[in-house]
Amino acid sequence: MSKLYFALAVLFAIAIFAVRSDETPSEQCPGEEFDNLHERIQVLPCGKSRCKLRKGTNTTVVFKFKPKNVVNELTNDVYAIIGGLPLPFVGVAGVSACTQIKHADTGESAPCPLEPNKEYVYTNVFPILDVYPQVALRVHWALRDGNTDVVCFEVPAVITAAAKKN
Ligand SMILES: *[C@@H]1O[C@H](CO)[C@@H](O)[C@H](O)[C@H]1NC(C)=O
Repeated sequence: MSKLYFALAVLFAIAIFAVRSDETPSEQCPGEEFDNLHERIQVLPCGKSRCKLRKGTNTTVVFKFKPKNVVNELTNDVYAIIGGLPLPFVGVAGVSACTQIKHADTGESAPCPLEPNKEYVYTNVFPILDVYPQVALRVHWALRDGNTDVVCFEVPAVITAAAKKN
């Protein structure tokens, strides 16, 4: 009996590990609440407790979202928070996101305006520049229509040194 419970406990632990190992540790933005962030957000590469952003590599951000209202214009509102101060990622912050959206079901590009209650996928790839400071930070990622966040999440991260060149 106890052996069976032990085996079940081990299987359960392995199952949890397998499910969680490629999950991004995404969190809600302060004062906001979006459904199923954990299943919807992927930052690659990442770690279990925070994403490791290595200088000289690209980071890929992919996430699904479902607008509640018609979205006419969508802007990337993206920055890293370092000791309370924002650092904008070069080439991302303030840029229109309308060209980065696809329909979740067909994979076809979805130019703005976006329809309410439809599932869309957003993809962005951006470089981790050598000039960025090597520190722990929080990545704040929102897509905004005017002053409203259509989706928003934050991810704990750390910028690490570039891989040694041979
Ligand atoms: C990062 O992405 C850019 C643009 O797609 C590409 O030119 C570059 O080779 C990539 N860098 C790495 C290290 O993968």
